[in-house]
Amino acid sequence: LSECFSSGLLSGLDVVITAGPTREAIDPVRYISNHSSGKMGYALAQACAEAGARTRLISGPTRLSCPANVERIDVVSAQDMLEAALACKADIFIGAAAVADYRPETIAAQKIKKQGSDSASTTLTLVQNPDIIATIAAGTHKPFMVGFAAETENIVDYARNKLIKKRLDLVIANDVSRHDIGFNSDDNAVTLISAASEEYLEPRSKYQLALELVRRIAIAYR
Ligand code: CTP
Ligand code: CA
Repeated sequence: LSECFSSGLLSGLDVVITAGPTREAIDPVRYISNHSSGKMGYALAQACAEAGARTRLISGPTRLSCPANVERIDVVSAQDMLEAALACKADIFIGAAAVADYRPETIAAQKIKKQGSDSASTTLTLVQNPDIIATIAAGTHKPFMVGFAAETENIVDYARNKLIKKRLDLVIANDVSRHDIGFNSDDNAVTLISAASEEYLEPRSKYQLALELVRRIAIAYR
């Protein structure tokens, strides 16, 4: 594996990766988000840079430091992430971010006050966020598109639907119901799905998995 990397499997190519969660503001002090650590996306960025790609990492808020030779573009909301993605030229685009599917319809300018004790519940109206990878895949200069699919059931079926619906070339399906691997863990196991194939990659560190995924992405791209 290391031989492929030293030979610059992705040299001369622009790779853009989204990673981490997004945060959708409710008011100046509150937001909606998720538990994504960003580790898988950052590991992929490191592996792409090591394979010689010019690598840009569009990252939501994480606790991670930027891998060597990777240009990080920090964003907060899904809307920001889409704008950053549209501004980057890419030969290969990898959507590893856990983008919030919905955002509050309006962001209150002031901190929302708790209602009186006579109103025990409240409602927040949410509107759907744009789908970043589907938007990039629908553009005029469509990069080679790699998406993730976070699923808790019917993993391969649901992931394959995403491949078709979003016009992706590869989908990396993650079983997020497993607690030993995935979302916030250091290890992961995935099923790599293309139009013609699917293959389960056994659990290993996210960095080792990223090396294997980048090798397969490079082969599929060429
Ligand atoms: N994704 C994206 N923009 C969104 C939502 C998702 O770019 N607004 C990308 C993710 O980065 C991932 C892929 O789409 O690469 C699949 O994300 P996932 O949450 O599994 O799928 P959804 O299409 O959002 O469907 P659902 O959450 O209902 O399963
Ligand atoms: Ca989603």
